[in-house]
This record gives sequence, structure tokens and C-alpha cells, in this order.
Amino acid sequence: MPEKKILIKEEIREIQGFKGLEKALSMSPDDVISEIKASGLRGRGGAGFPCGMKWELAHKAPEKEKYLICNADEGEVGTFKDRYLLQKNPFLLLEGMIITAYAIGATIAYIYLRDEYHYLLEDLEKAIEKCRMKGHLKNLEIKIQEGAGAYICGEESALMNSIEGKRGESRFKPPFPPQKGLFQKPTIINNVETLSNVPLIMEKGAKWYSAMGTSESKGTKLFCVSGDVKNPGVYEMEMGCQLQELLDLAGAENVKWVQVGGSTGSVIPALKLDTPLAYETILGSGAVMVFNATRDVVDFVYRTLAFLNEESCGKCTPCREGTEVMVEILGRMVNGEGVQEDIDNLQDLSDTMVRAALCGLGQAAPTPVLDTLAYFRKDYEDRISQSVFLRSLKTING
Ligand SMILES: Cc1cc2nc3c(=O)[nH]c(=O)nc-3n(C[C@H](O)[C@H](O)[C@H](O)COP(=O)(O)O)c2cc1C
Repeated sequence: MPEKKILIKEEIREIQGFKGLEKALSMSPDDVISEIKASGLRGRGGAGFPCGMKWELAHKAPEKEKYLICNADEGEVGTFKDRYLLQKNPFLLLEGMIITAYAIGATIAYIYLRDEYHYLLEDLEKAIEKCRMKGHLKNLEIKIQEGAGAYICGEESALMNSIEGKRGESRFKPPFPPQKGLFQKPTIINNVETLSNVPLIMEKGAKWYSAMGTSESKGTKLFCVSGDVKNPGVYEMEMGCQLQELLDLAGAENVKWVQVGGSTGSVIPALKLDTPLAYETILGSGAVMVFNATRDVVDFVYRTLAFLNEESCGKCTPCREGTEVMVEILGRMVNGEGVQEDIDNLQDLSDTMVRAALCGLGQAAPTPVLDTLAYFRKDYEDRISQSVFLRSLKTING
């Protein structure tokens, strides 16, 4: 049985360690990339892109100037695992960043730190300075750029705009960041957790790492469990574990649904809690928000869409207008003013947004709507018939 707890519980890495970096520096950048590819490591920030493949694109780009960005924006609702790593194990992240910069050929790296994590800034700066004093940084400069509290700035292209001092809006793709990223130079953007996996892969080997997990999802994953549970917190599990296993550890009872992956994540009803948590099934950022039978589905979807509407950058029409109209429709339902056509309109609007929005926010914003319409349609219908009934009473009574 492979070990499960590798990142946070067993070993708080100290600066003296850095065995992964030592091993990486004894190899060529090409060989480091091959090891990461062989490990099967995929991005932990939500999209799950194969890490080594992305690095290879930047490594092979002819430009001399290249950048590495660590995405520590962690704005996704219900997600707090990166904070845990930044706070408890900053040297693991820094070691991962130094290895990644070496592999792709970057001499400047940024940590894009969520505005609300300002209290971590001083300790992170001290940790970077310690690395520099120990000679680990060599010609690499690691800068910290603080965000300003916008959810969209976690999206990689909006994040780069933000570092460049521009408005935090998504860019059209292609070109993709490994081709033309920050300041139009090849750029690798990886999540805190992704980068924190790198030293352990280098130290213990791709074979050790890929023995854990499923065919498409290797290693372990940090899950942030919150909501109606007795023991909320960060749990490290092997990829492919069942959602139920995690809920048992966290002490969830009387579950009605679970939203996995944050505000735009999938909604899993109680009947499907045996779903494995992996890229090929359901994963996202690792947020696992639990809702028990006392919770109202339509209220939940309304609040979720109100958040996404507030956070839409407004650049593309499907997201800007689509989330606005969804909030209008759901708001009417919540206020007892729903009409029969609302369900079909929500469905049509969702289909358009999924296909036409510019970035992941607008494309995935309809997910909670579509999932709850699939699993809890009756909750919507009941809300509407109650509204229709109350309106008819009003008419009769004048
Ligand atoms: C609206 C939106 C918000 C995002 N927020 C974050 C975030 O806070 N942190 C993060 O690592 N990735 C976030 N992402 C994903 C990033 O765009 C990108 O895929 C990720 O940083 C790549 O790193 P990875 O391959 O290591 O996961 C977000 C994506 C979208 C569409």
C-alpha cells in the first residue's frame, strides 16, 4: 500500500532538506521534465493540465527571457489548501519553484499572493531570503505580487494582466502562456499545490509517485472540506478515493448534496457519494462543500450565481449578461415570483454560456445550475408552483 500522506502531515520540510533540488540539479533540464512527465503530475489549480507537457513547451520556446508564476490567488469558494501549504510548508513550495525555474529556464519567478493572505507575506519573504542566503536561488529572483481581491485574477491570463498592472480581465487564447505569457514572454503558471509536489517527485522518483492514484490521476490531492460537517479542514487523500470516504472522515451526516471544486464545481447528490475523486470523474480545485437536508437548493444556486455575477470581469457578453440574467431569474424564484418558463430559460442560457464564454468562469458558471436541474428539478418546480399558487390566491383575494 503506498503512503498516503506525503505533503503536509508527515514531513514539514526544512531548508536543510532540499534533496529534490539537489537531485534535479544533478540532471539536465530535459531529464527533469521527463521525470515530471513520467510521474503523471497534473495541475492542482482546477484545470488538470499535464505539468511536464506544459513545462516542455516553455523550455523549448526560443526566447531567452521566460517567467514562472506560482498561482497563490486561491480565490475559489471553499478552497483553503494553498494557504495551508504556504503557512505550514513554504520551503516545499520554494524548492518546487526553484526546480521548475531550472527546468524551464526562467530567471524571474512570481508568487501571486491572494490579497486576503497578506498576513503570510512577511514569513514568505523571510523564507525566500533564507533560500537566497543558503545559495539555493543562484540566478533566480523570486518576487511576491499581491492581488487586490478579484476572483477572476486567479484565472491565469487575468492574473498575468494584473501583474502587468492592467485591468484583471481574461485574454483571448491562443496564444497560451507557455508561448506568450507575462510581458509576452513564455510563462509557466502553476498552482501552489502542483509546485509543492515537484520536490517529492524529484527526490523519490516518478515511479514512486505514479504508483499512487488512478490511471489518469496520479499522486495524492489536498481536499478542503467545509459546510455541514463535524470536522472541517484540509485532508490529503490518494487520488481516486471515494467522496464518501472523505465525508466519513470529516463527519458528514444527513447529506443532501455536495459541491466539489468550488463555486463553478459539480453538484453531487447524496445518491452518488460513491463517486471517485479524480480528474476523470470530478475534482476541480479540491473544495468539497457539504450541504445537509436542511439546505435549500434554489437558494444555494441563487447565492452561487450572485457571487459569480459579481466576480465576472465583464469582458465577454455571455458571462457578463448571462450571469446577470441568471441571477434575475433565480432571484425571482427565491422571492416567490417564479414562472414556468424559468426552468427552460435557465437551461438555454446555460447551454449558450458553456459554448460561448471567453474563459473558465463563464464557461463553468452554469455547472451548478445544470447539475441541480438534473438532480433536483423537483425543488425548482415546487418553488415555481408555490409562487404560482400564492399569486393566484392574491388575485382571488384582490
Ligand atoms: C475564474 C477562475 C479562477 C481561477 N482561480 C485559480 C486560483 O485561485 N488558483 C489556481 O491555482 N488556479 C486558478 N484557476 C486556474 C488557472 O487559470 C490555471 O489553470 C492554473 O493556475 C494552472 O496551474 P496548474 O496547472 O498547476 O493547476 C482559475 C481559473 C478560473 C477560470
